[in-house]
Amino acid sequence: MFLGIDLGTSSMKCLLVDDEQNILSSVSSNIEISNPKSGWSEQNPKFWIDALDDCLKTLSQKNKISEIKAISFSGHMHGATCLDKDFNIIRPCILWNDTRSFDECETIMKDRSVLDISGNLAMPGFTAPKLLWMKKNEPKKFNQVAKVLLPKDYLRFILTGEFYSDLSDASGTYWLDVGKREWSKKLLDDTHMNISQMPNLCEGTEQTGIVNKHYQKQYGFNNNCKVYGGAGDNAAAAVGLGIFEEGNVSLSLGTSGVIFASTNSFLKNYDEAIHSFCHCLPNTWHLMSVMLSCTSNINWFIDTFNSSIKEINLELENLLKNYSDVKNFPFFLPYLSGERTPINDPHIRASFHDMGIETTRVSLIYSLIEGISFGLKDNYEALKKTNIKLDNIYVIGGGSNSRYWIKLLANILNRDLLITEASDTMAAFGAARLAFMGYNKVQPNEILSNPRVIDQVKPNHVNDMLINNRYQKWKTFYLN
Ligand code: XUL
Repeated sequence: MFLGIDLGTSSMKCLLVDDEQNILSSVSSNIEISNPKSGWSEQNPKFWIDALDDCLKTLSQKNKISEIKAISFSGHMHGATCLDKDFNIIRPCILWNDTRSFDECETIMKDRSVLDISGNLAMPGFTAPKLLWMKKNEPKKFNQVAKVLLPKDYLRFILTGEFYSDLSDASGTYWLDVGKREWSKKLLDDTHMNISQMPNLCEGTEQTGIVNKHYQKQYGFNNNCKVYGGAGDNAAAAVGLGIFEEGNVSLSLGTSGVIFASTNSFLKNYDEAIHSFCHCLPNTWHLMSVMLSCTSNINWFIDTFNSSIKEINLELENLLKNYSDVKNFPFFLPYLSGERTPINDPHIRASFHDMGIETTRVSLIYSLIEGISFGLKDNYEALKKTNIKLDNIYVIGGGSNSRYWIKLLANILNRDLLITEASDTMAAFGAARLAFMGYNKVQPNEILSNPRVIDQVKPNHVNDMLINNRYQKWKTFYLN
């Protein structure tokens, strides 16, 4: 058996596969996020360990943990997990969707040569600007930093005692030379960091240690259970989907909204905040658009207006039958915590526009989902400008369960969208696949098949003009 551990932003998922890559078991445990100030987003790494314990406890009730041959990870990217010289946590992890370090990004970008090394704009989500922010605002803590780990790599340290990061996740630090696939002395120097504070680098399928005695004793892991590199969540999900060559694309509707396309070389389009990162497989890279708030807008709406996924799906279903009703509905900008692709604006916040006395709860629900979908269209258009092939789009993440949203999205993107089996555990599945590949020493083309497509949602073209008019009008609200 092989175990994939996916450390997501709001929950951990652990998934077991057998030697034929069949999913045997999948469990999850929720994780809290704290937002102490507007634009701040933090998590206590202790919660990750608690979630892992919770998942392992549940898994061990029905499965023989001693039969797990290898483990690997997927994790939310960019978070700064800072350890002191005794490897204790210095402060809560500052997460990928935290936008406090915008001034520090400007400082980093003063020397434009960093763009060639990193392939990316310095954006507040990335790790390096967070450390610069700590240097200025928490100098005592900054001086204590002996290691900076990405979230999933901290879990690896807890499980094995080893310091490693795979290249896909390390790309999101802004300390990596993404073309050369090694730490960049220049990028480290620019942010007053040094290489001894970095973990070792590895490919997603490289071995990085074995499970330590504590976890062997606690859960019954065998004494040679191997731990492999893993990947940032989007690259891990891509492995789950069999995406490692140009053409196949994933569209993830999770807390963030991400479109991911594999590339055979190091390409860039940083002007529109397209991310250019290493893939977690040797000699492979990827381009990715990132919308910071995707389903988090839906969760916010549900909490604030005492709504539910059921209500939202039902109203969407009704509206899609009488679509012309939406003509005079309000508009929603989905920027709850700023935005990366394409506008790279950490200061913008979400807003409803054009509400009138006639505005109803139903029309707000529609504009919420439409606004998120228009944001994804902006992402898609920015990615298209790189001229890479975007042949098949696989929709994954929690939002992929909402068929009426996917119908609307297919119309808005004017693209067929593919739904696969187990689409909301794809990152954990990808992590398990990386463990399988590393352990069995197999090449991507020998094993990374695409999962079975259970539905292909096509645009119906009935309301193209109305959709396009609303998209053009929606765009003006940000520009104004
Ligand atoms: C990617 C990004 C998010 C997080 C959380 O750059 O910030 O997708 O990995 O999922």
